[in-house]
Amino acid sequence: MHSKFVRVLSILFVFALVLGMSVSVVRGQDPIKVGLSFSDFATERWRNEEILMRGLLEDLGYEVISQEANHDVVLQNNQIDNMVTQGVAAIIVVAEDGDAAATAVDAAAAAGVHVLAYDRLIKSPNIAAYLSFNNVEVGRQQALGVLAALDIDGGTWTAENPVRLVKLGGSPTDNNAILFRQGQDEILQPYVDSGVIQVVADQWVDNWDATNALRIMENVLTAQNNEIDAVVASNDGTALGALQALAAQGLAGVVPISGQDATADGVNSIVRGQLTVSILKDIRDLSPLAVELIDALIKGEDIPELQTFTMAELTNDPAREGEVQAYFLPVFQVNAENAYDLVVASGFQAYDDVYRDVPENERPPRPEMMEATAEASS
Ligand code: BGC
Repeated sequence: MHSKFVRVLSILFVFALVLGMSVSVVRGQDPIKVGLSFSDFATERWRNEEILMRGLLEDLGYEVISQEANHDVVLQNNQIDNMVTQGVAAIIVVAEDGDAAATAVDAAAAAGVHVLAYDRLIKSPNIAAYLSFNNVEVGRQQALGVLAALDIDGGTWTAENPVRLVKLGGSPTDNNAILFRQGQDEILQPYVDSGVIQVVADQWVDNWDATNALRIMENVLTAQNNEIDAVVASNDGTALGALQALAAQGLAGVVPISGQDATADGVNSIVRGQLTVSILKDIRDLSPLAVELIDALIKGEDIPELQTFTMAELTNDPAREGEVQAYFLPVFQVNAENAYDLVVASGFQAYDDVYRDVPENERPPRPEMMEATAEASS
């Protein structure tokens, strides 16, 4: 009994020794740290991108420090400061506020940390690079999708019988919201100028919050006696909030409305005939690009894809000075006709999420079945 105890003890001792050694080996190597700083996790995509980038960075041997700021600008800056204190070599930032984040980013850059503005611009000349999608094109495609659903050039809409349109911008502190609006206006303005479109409300949704959008839409509907013909909203979250208000007045599926992100709920709403259009921005391309870029920056390698843009053109503000190294990925309009191919067959969203609450006999076959049929007939 006693000797057995000693044996167990010595085995444990050897085990502890080996464990201690292996820990010290890892310590000795000290993996390089990379920070991920998110504005929030309320929008579906950010959590997915956190998982994607964390996985890719860890595969490359980096230690990842990740935080989300719950829309709190001060908290996000503190989190960035903290990452710098913890010795990160680089930080990928989705900024809640492109102006406010510059303070923390400037300090990080001064400490030698590479900062990548991810998806949203940070208005600092000290960012190493800016990676995003073609955000102005997002806005154009949102407006085009809504106008197509209205059959804007079909003859029904005239200066005597104008489209009564609601504009719902994103969060005013997000530079992307400005760019989406720029693209939307490029398409809408000629019709506004000719009187075929009458803008009956023009609002911005703080924090991109769905509940704010719902409230704004309720107020607009009340003020306009429900006389609304179209809504250009700027992402799926806010569009689905606005759709709740429209649904309460029997207007969901009647009034065309745009979104963005091809979220599971957004595309589900499209196939159920409520949301008119969303925009697919393939984060499966953006996240790896960001990680590749960060890896190259840390290793001091060249980044060939980057181009120089002026801060003025990236903010739609001629007064802005300086230049940024940036790269933009393409975007795709998603509507009832192409949702299956673009979103489901491509694996961007799961079949069961997109066709949730759609009766079995109204669903298309699962992508696996389509493939099997194609193979059998070839
Ligand atoms: C992103 C959108 C997102 C929105 C709200 C924007 O900056 O580009 O994809 O829907 O923020 O999070």
